[in-house]
Amino acid sequence: LPGAEVLVVSNREPYIHNHTDAGITVQLPASGLVSAIEPVIRACGGTWIAHGSGSADRDSVDAADRIAVPPDAPSYTLRRIWLTDEEQDGYYYGFANEGMWPLCHIAFVRPTFREADWRYYREVNQKFADAVVREAKTHDPIVLVQDYHFALLPRMVRKHLPKATIITFWHIPWPNAETFGICPWKEEIIEGLLGSSILGFHTNFHCNNFFETIDRFVESRIDRERRSITLGGQETMVRAYPISIEWPPSALAGQAPVPACRAAVRQRFGLGEGVRVGIGIERFDYTKGILDRLHGVDVLLSRHPEWRGAVTFIQAAAPTRSKIASYRALQDEAVALAEEINNRYRTPDWQPLILSIRHHQPPEVFELFRAADFCVVSSLHDGMNLVAKEFVAARDDERGVLVLSTFAGASRELAEALIVNPYHAHDMAEAIHRALMMPVDEQEARMRQMRALVRTRNVYRWAGQMLLDAAQLRRREGIER
Ligand code: G6P
Repeated sequence: LPGAEVLVVSNREPYIHNHTDAGITVQLPASGLVSAIEPVIRACGGTWIAHGSGSADRDSVDAADRIAVPPDAPSYTLRRIWLTDEEQDGYYYGFANEGMWPLCHIAFVRPTFREADWRYYREVNQKFADAVVREAKTHDPIVLVQDYHFALLPRMVRKHLPKATIITFWHIPWPNAETFGICPWKEEIIEGLLGSSILGFHTNFHCNNFFETIDRFVESRIDRERRSITLGGQETMVRAYPISIEWPPSALAGQAPVPACRAAVRQRFGLGEGVRVGIGIERFDYTKGILDRLHGVDVLLSRHPEWRGAVTFIQAAAPTRSKIASYRALQDEAVALAEEINNRYRTPDWQPLILSIRHHQPPEVFELFRAADFCVVSSLHDGMNLVAKEFVAARDDERGVLVLSTFAGASRELAEALIVNPYHAHDMAEAIHRALMMPVDEQEARMRQMRALVRTRNVYRWAGQMLLDAAQLRRREGIER
């Protein structure tokens, strides 16, 4: 797409500046969306429009609220949008995270729909759409809209930039029509999304759910052959683009060899020499199946007592969306459950579970991955899950076993993982047992397959495929320069 202007819109920003005791520091957020998009825009340049959420964000931008990033080697512009507390509560915590998030994950947390939240969601979508229109220097830019925070924005941008190529990627699942049907504003959401030129999901399963939802709730023309939907003269291509990670991941650079990582982690957590190590790492979110995995460890230790004193599971979890009661409740429940399990099995010099509840920067995460004998990703429902792919990428020694939920999109691609049903604690326990018993040559064979897949189906291919489809559209519409 030579010469095309690229704009990204997402809620979460790639670099968060905070005031700390050590002065202003930069945090890289725990976000699958950010880890996927950042290497892409770093490579192609452009402008990323996102919510300025850090305490020092305002002190780091210029008069037009822009800052060149990455901080150490700038290659694109981050344009920050400021939100009031009311806007944040209504749009982000409220509609996006208490409405859309549980709705789309079909999590057993009841979605909450408040009229006021919806109003803020609409207003904030308009605010970001206005910023896109203002930032655009050309009349036909490529606008990459990210996620469930911005379902209304594609149509809003389309109104002012009719020739823009708007590619919207939905980073979370799309549920079936019955489930989506409970959303009071389903028509507006769908119509907003259908302002896009291309609408991407992680899997065909989610695309099919979307088609089914459209079929049920809006008058439009669905062309299954072309995999497109036309509403009010605007055709939207609906495609699956399985998201991935950069290869090799930048967090891998500078990592010590695997034995040194193992030694460092053992020392940090006070683990005995022979103790095997499991790792789980994510945001503290109820869709990730953290409690279920702790139950899995519990069942492992009761059914296979030989692992008592011989395996420790480290759960690293970053507090997230803590203003929302269901998130706080989960964290409390996980701490209590871990304590209960530890009390049941602990000995003077060993405990089965260690919780590390704080934000971990990428190099730290990769060190944990490299130190682990196995990694558990037990999402109850997940669009893709990049932790699974990062674990695989971290293991250049081709060792270690991935235990992966069948309900994460990643399980469609990483078939050599031990695939589990996280709702079934016995299944999880047996998978962990099998991981711990797996001969080295089998670990290597599985890891090699998975690494080959992630290496080729990396995030550049993900973005490249979307941009190729965009280029084809632009050619067809005769707007390619
Ligand atoms: C998921 C969502 C992203 C989001 C991330 C972190 O991956 O799909 O949109 O950025 O979670 O959540 P947060 O609310 O902290 O941005």
